[in-house]
Amino acid sequence: MRFDILTLFPDMFSSPLKESIMGRAIEKGLVQIRTVNIRDFTLDKHQVVDDTPYGGGQGMVMKVEPVARAIESVKSKNPSALTIYLTPQGKPFNQDLARRLSSQSHLILLCGRYEGVDERVRELFIDEEISIGDYVLTGGELAAMVVIDAISRFIPGVLGSERSAEEDSFFNSLLEYPQYTRPFEFRGKGVPEVLLSGNHSAISLWRRKEALRRTLLRRPDLLAKALLTEEEKGFLEEILNNDSKSDGS
Ligand code: ADE
Repeated sequence: MRFDILTLFPDMFSSPLKESIMGRAIEKGLVQIRTVNIRDFTLDKHQVVDDTPYGGGQGMVMKVEPVARAIESVKSKNPSALTIYLTPQGKPFNQDLARRLSSQSHLILLCGRYEGVDERVRELFIDEEISIGDYVLTGGELAAMVVIDAISRFIPGVLGSERSAEEDSFFNSLLEYPQYTRPFEFRGKGVPEVLLSGNHSAISLWRRKEALRRTLLRRPDLLAKALLTEEEKGFLEEILNNDSKSDGS
């Protein structure tokens, strides 16, 4: 899968995506990431990319012409690439959206700065707008990194052969169960016995129940979308009735 990132700050991307899982995905050729500096698409001597807003007001607006030329330079090589604008006004990004976008072969990610882009960029070039949360970042670059990382985890081979995104939090609309590794005891705190039992069906059942418990206590809103058996619904009732223990850590 290919990502072209249109930004005024390409250096921001030099390190974060080269480490660990993303680094290996790029090395293996599963993911290709290219940055395009919007400033390279200005035609004036001072390479101006922003201007004051019509109608007055604070801040600067990214000019339509350099952004348009930058998008067109990528689209001319692949007209079917999907163009996404990262903005707090966009559709909330989540695991389902990440999975859906992972089926695309080429995304163009436009990172806004200042007060955003001239509205005509939206009207003429943008297929989708995405927000990574209800807060305002200094620009779309960090949001683009989040989106690339979350999408790439769905590309076959990126997480390695035995690992899949299907055990993560949000798969089946549940948070992930608690994980432990050695030592068996740390500062008086042990590991649930069942995890050492070697009994795989008991372990699966424990994990499913803990995922349910954790989701109920931390993100009950997610349960509305989860597919639960009658037994699992009963288990949730039981937790609600008996388990008033806070799990907000
Ligand atoms: N740019 C600034 N804030 C953003 C956000 N929350 N999501 C996506 N892009 C942004």
